[in-house]
Amino acid sequence: MKFLKILLLFITIQVSAQQGGMWIPSLLEGMNEQEMADLGSNLTAKDIYDVNNSSLKDAIGHFNGGCTSEVISPKGLILTNHHCGYSQIQSHSSMENDYLKDGFWAMSLEEELPNPGLFIEFIVRIEDVTTQVLNGVTDDMTEKEKQSTISKNSNAFEAEVETEAWQDTKIKSFYKGNQYFLFVTERYNDIRLVGAPPSSIGKFGSDTDNWVFPRHTGDFSMFRIYADKDNRPAEYSVDNVPYKPKHFLPISLDGVEEGDFTMVFGFPGRTNEYLPAVAIEHITKEYNPSNIAIREAALKVIDAKMKESDEVRIKYASKQARIANAWKKWIGENLGIEKSNAVEERRLFEANFTKALKEKGLEDKYGNILPEFEVLYNNFEDVNIKRRNFIEVFLVTNELMTMSFRAYQFEQAVTNNPDVFDKAKTSIEGTLTGIHKNYDVTVDRGVFENVMPFYTKNVDVSIYDKTALTNLDTALKLFEGSQEDVIKNLNNDAAYAYAKPLIEEFYNTVNTEFEAKNEPITALQTEYMTALMEALPNARYFPDANSTLRVTYGQVRGYSPRDAVYYSPVSYLDGVIEKYVPGDYEFDVPEKLLDLYKTKDYGQYADTNGKVPVCFLGTNHTTGGNSGSPAIDAHGNLVGLNFDRVWEGTMSDMNYDPEICRNIMVDLRYVLFIVDKYAGAKHLIDEMKLVHPKK
Ligand code: ARG
Ligand code: GLU
Repeated sequence: MKFLKILLLFITIQVSAQQGGMWIPSLLEGMNEQEMADLGSNLTAKDIYDVNNSSLKDAIGHFNGGCTSEVISPKGLILTNHHCGYSQIQSHSSMENDYLKDGFWAMSLEEELPNPGLFIEFIVRIEDVTTQVLNGVTDDMTEKEKQSTISKNSNAFEAEVETEAWQDTKIKSFYKGNQYFLFVTERYNDIRLVGAPPSSIGKFGSDTDNWVFPRHTGDFSMFRIYADKDNRPAEYSVDNVPYKPKHFLPISLDGVEEGDFTMVFGFPGRTNEYLPAVAIEHITKEYNPSNIAIREAALKVIDAKMKESDEVRIKYASKQARIANAWKKWIGENLGIEKSNAVEERRLFEANFTKALKEKGLEDKYGNILPEFEVLYNNFEDVNIKRRNFIEVFLVTNELMTMSFRAYQFEQAVTNNPDVFDKAKTSIEGTLTGIHKNYDVTVDRGVFENVMPFYTKNVDVSIYDKTALTNLDTALKLFEGSQEDVIKNLNNDAAYAYAKPLIEEFYNTVNTEFEAKNEPITALQTEYMTALMEALPNARYFPDANSTLRVTYGQVRGYSPRDAVYYSPVSYLDGVIEKYVPGDYEFDVPEKLLDLYKTKDYGQYADTNGKVPVCFLGTNHTTGGNSGSPAIDAHGNLVGLNFDRVWEGTMSDMNYDPEICRNIMVDLRYVLFIVDKYAGAKHLIDEMKLVHPKK
């Protein structure tokens, strides 16, 4: 017993000492390289990131600025999640060709479908430019002066950077503005849809299973990058050819078992790991609950209507998924924060920090930071919620209010500068057309009734009977004629007239107050980060996610979400069959998959136990944006496709805890099994490089 306790303690310490963190790929030499080796990796820092030779980073693409994707063949074949390609799959879908429902497979290059607007961006190189960016920034400057110097320096530096004609640059802030890095990038704009499984595979379990384990979702889709004849980025053209990558990931057919090393390489969006306790308290006790309530009110209407009608289902699929995804995440985040006692733990940590300040004679310099956070947050909380409620109601859930909001921005723009009238008109017409492509007025009206009370007492549903905005033709008519006519038409519209004072209030008071109160908090966070690194220099600091390329690593591990419950780390096709509910909108299973299961026609894709693995868990520290990221084995082969985290572990955005934070990946063998055996797209398998690193 005692031995077991010591062993457990040892495992815990080992796990917490070496995992967590999203690291900058160009800075892995030394500590990270060592930690990875300790976890079982054979990769060197140079295998992962190298400026002069091809390396793993050359296979990792930022997918449309949000998700991650990776190159898996010498012909530019791209793998990402089903939910990342969702709006592209949706945009090619109709009642006749329901690719959302039935899936889509291009059987030749000619059948691959172009996606205007979709792009994939690679990182060419990363450079530390802190000295250049902070040149001339001094402590006695106001926050505004500092920021303006920083942006002037950044622009000047970017203008000087040597790049090829088809490359771009950007400079991003790290460690809360204590460090700056330059990224040289290459963006490909001709990206075609190659394949997607039916939603009953790609989105199996839908909202019920989202953010939870055991999971059985084949959350993948495939695209292809096309380039010009010189292999350079180019706009869509029939003359473009499949892109030849600097590197593509071989795929391991040997899979993973508990304890195996994995590394996730991708573009995590946003985390906030260095918040004071008072902020975590505000987020989990006030901010999240208010957002959750608004989305719940909207989903009640949208979900019901989607079940009633296929037309509504197709139109609202993407929007519903977006709204439901964060809604459920926030609930899990709150659970995790509570379960791990994160607020109290953070207070204990702060007591340590204060003690270290005393011991090091840093009290005068930094002793005010934590008390100041308390004052600033107390003052900030109300307006933060009010502003967010506006965003949730006007910009996330209700479309009539979104249209009114965009129309208001149009009116402001042309009133300030009549010269932009034509341009602004084209832009608002585009926005309205985009919204109406997937619009159903009865859904929106129901949403309005449910969400509006979260922002105002004045809820006037009758505007839906009078406004021109709910129909595309009449909406566009509002914008015909001279500028004067258009402004008059708009202001006479019932919905616009209703929304306008609320939007004005938002701009003139709510948002202004928010910015005034948020700015000193941001500035204090910068100082807090500096103070932490000075007072506690031996801690392991990693920069918050900021949509730049990062490496995170860990091992395949199960976990225990509740007392007496333990989740083993790998799920199998058997679990899909266990969850199968014929005809259900979340848990139906396609006939063909049932047949493959019955006949055990698994080919080379089964595990040594004879079963087809579907998903697995790891301790990799991931967040939104890591969707579609490759899980890479100890040798640089692709073994998994990241797509989610476990529910209680979503708190890792503020508080990574190796005990309960797990990322969820699709096993690549399930992906290949579906492509080969289910879809019969063997030609795609033939493009790939399949390897057996364990044999
Ligand atoms: N939770 C995952 C992520 O944050 C997957 C979302 C897509 N799936 C869904 N059922 N909505 O993006
Ligand atoms: N599904 C998420 C995404 O779209 C990844 C899950 C997470 O937040 O970790 O990026």
